[in-house]
Amino acid sequence: MNIASSVSDLIGGTPLVRMKRTMEIEGLPAVLAMKMETTNPGGSAKDRPALEMILAAERDGLLEPGGTIVEPTSGNTGVGLAIVAAQRGYDCVFVMTDKNGAEKIDLLKAYGAEVVVCPVAVAPDDPRSYYKVAERLTHERNAFRPNQYANPNNPLAHTKTTGPELWEQTAGRITHFVAGAGTCGTITGTARYLKERNADIRIVAADPEGSVFSGGSGRPYLVEGVGEDFYPAAWDPDLYDEVIAVSDADSFAMARRVSQEEGILIGGSGGLAVAAAIEVAKRAGPDDIVVVLNPDSGRGYLSRIFNDDWMANFGFLTECDQCVGAVVDARGDAMAQLLYVNPSHTVRTAIDLMREHGISQVPVCKNTPPFAAAEVSGSVDELELMEQIAGDPSAMDLPVERVMSPKLPTVGVGQKIEYALELLHTSPALLVLAGGRPLGVLTRSDILAYFDQRLGAGDATR
Ligand SMILES: Cc1ncc(COP(=O)(O)O)c(C=O)c1O
Repeated sequence: MNIASSVSDLIGGTPLVRMKRTMEIEGLPAVLAMKMETTNPGGSAKDRPALEMILAAERDGLLEPGGTIVEPTSGNTGVGLAIVAAQRGYDCVFVMTDKNGAEKIDLLKAYGAEVVVCPVAVAPDDPRSYYKVAERLTHERNAFRPNQYANPNNPLAHTKTTGPELWEQTAGRITHFVAGAGTCGTITGTARYLKERNADIRIVAADPEGSVFSGGSGRPYLVEGVGEDFYPAAWDPDLYDEVIAVSDADSFAMARRVSQEEGILIGGSGGLAVAAAIEVAKRAGPDDIVVVLNPDSGRGYLSRIFNDDWMANFGFLTECDQCVGAVVDARGDAMAQLLYVNPSHTVRTAIDLMREHGISQVPVCKNTPPFAAAEVSGSVDELELMEQIAGDPSAMDLPVERVMSPKLPTVGVGQKIEYALELLHTSPALLVLAGGRPLGVLTRSDILAYFDQRLGAGDATR
């Protein structure tokens, strides 16, 4: 009989599959193989560290029978911990922010975990914040907090399992290992084993453009699960031969491509890793074996990466020939730079900016450019500000966040002009997104000017 004694015993031992079609289409001679972490019981690579961290906590006396695990996580690590906890009789409490979708909360609850939701819009030292609540619950419940970002058993799980599996599955012929880096547990742990066996194996970290690992500030990007704004304990650059930065647009496009061309449904971070692996494979020869690790499934991203409306609205897909992007191009320099104010800027600053540039609306954005779409917190409108000041002249010195209007509706660069016109019925201006980032503000007069220019130029559709 071949019956596993528990689902925990099914963690690891994931298959390695050739990405033959991708390499044929790319016209590259190397072997590209994907380590399919989706076949772990929780559907991701995080089952491995979850198991290892719990087993180590038991050994170290940090987790007693019937004990509680508290971890701030919204993702795959939570699922892994919940599975192992269910098997071994522990309670799990996961702390998330209200930014996380209902699906993620329901998924963890489905495994019997308790989920505590905290407001995202409070400072990190506020007692209601995600961090503070996790701290308080750990203390109150005398719980074990795995803390995957600092726990050495996270990379160790991969040194003990992922590395040896890859060595065996390739009969020691693996030449390159490519993986996304978040906590760096996967890349560092696997690299430690592989480099020990053969120091010539090249280790390549795939990183979202904007993350610190590839030299960014930590923002903005949309790919989930990878990239950071700080260096976690497992970050070990001596082990990495290269860090390749990949844009959101390329990561998402690759996720869709691999799902369609190989029949392997992967998410944005999988797309990111494959995009980096193809870059590596372009420099590899016919005897090289490039292994790319796919951390989880595209199932968790159906409403974003695999939803055409979402992709188009964020400026990742092009729906037409003459779309919003053409209006933007026609405006030329005016769109070259996004005009914005920070939430803390005064109303006076906003009015000066609008007068200087002859515009009537500007978005209110947190941080500095380039912005993520999620960093847009509202908008200010010339007319509305004037009304405020007419009622109370001291409003001139208020921060705009006190008086701002809701965010402008968004339109993707690749969406139809007709769609933009529809939105302009109810809003004086729209925020144009390209590659997930705000590009500029679009008004009716921009579209009018565009049509005027086209007709004036004797367009064939005249
Ligand atoms: C969803 C997800 N979580 C996490 C990671 C990163 O793994 P680690 O935290 O081990 O660096 C990845 C890597 O691609 C990922 O896709």
